[in-house]
Amino acid sequence: MNNDIKKILITEEQIAAKCAELGRTLTEEYDGRFPLAVGVLKGALPFMSDILRSIHTYLEMDFMDVSSYDGQMRSSGEVKIVKDLDTKVEGRDLLIIEDIIDSGLTLSYLVDLFKYRKANSIKIVSLLDKPDGRTSHIKADIVGFDVPNEFVVGYGLDYAEKYRNLPYIGVLKPEIYGGT
Ligand code: PRP
Ligand code: MN
Ligand code: MG
Repeated sequence: MNNDIKKILITEEQIAAKCAELGRTLTEEYDGRFPLAVGVLKGALPFMSDILRSIHTYLEMDFMDVSSYDGQMRSSGEVKIVKDLDTKVEGRDLLIIEDIIDSGLTLSYLVDLFKYRKANSIKIVSLLDKPDGRTSHIKADIVGFDVPNEFVVGYGLDYAEKYRNLPYIGVLKPEIYGGT
């Protein structure tokens, strides 16, 4: 285990089993359609890569890079588009793929944007949900795991751009981010 991690919350095996399970649900959901899977960079990258390989239907992939934390602990309250989609959203069935919903700001911004761009349908799949963090009124359609109000990193989730490549979800030691 990485030295900066206090404890492992969700193991590599649990993540793999969950991706397979959610993939089956989404395979049924999108069977016979051609959804546009939108990965929210950078955090969603490992989850997107794993879950898409469990969805057995035709789909298109694209990426949106938005940031509201800028390496900070708290959301700045403003969502910035760093990279927009290349694909036209109008009339498409969108599957937004996220690693975590915390305040909900990122996803409420994206959902509003995609509604404005006239998506036919919008669904959200998020590996993690931190319900205690919520300030915006947004709910994922499909959630892998609820997590407590702790500083979680790994499997895409960073602190100051580190830990995204850990294969598990862990809780960061408070001394690493100067917390208690
Ligand atoms: C993190 C995380 C989610 C978002 C969740 O992304 O990956 O996208 O914050 O927080 P929210 O619900 O409070 O908006 P971040 O903006 O840090 O960018 P990153 O994915 O590149 O780390
Ligand atoms: Mn993110
Ligand atoms: Mg981040």
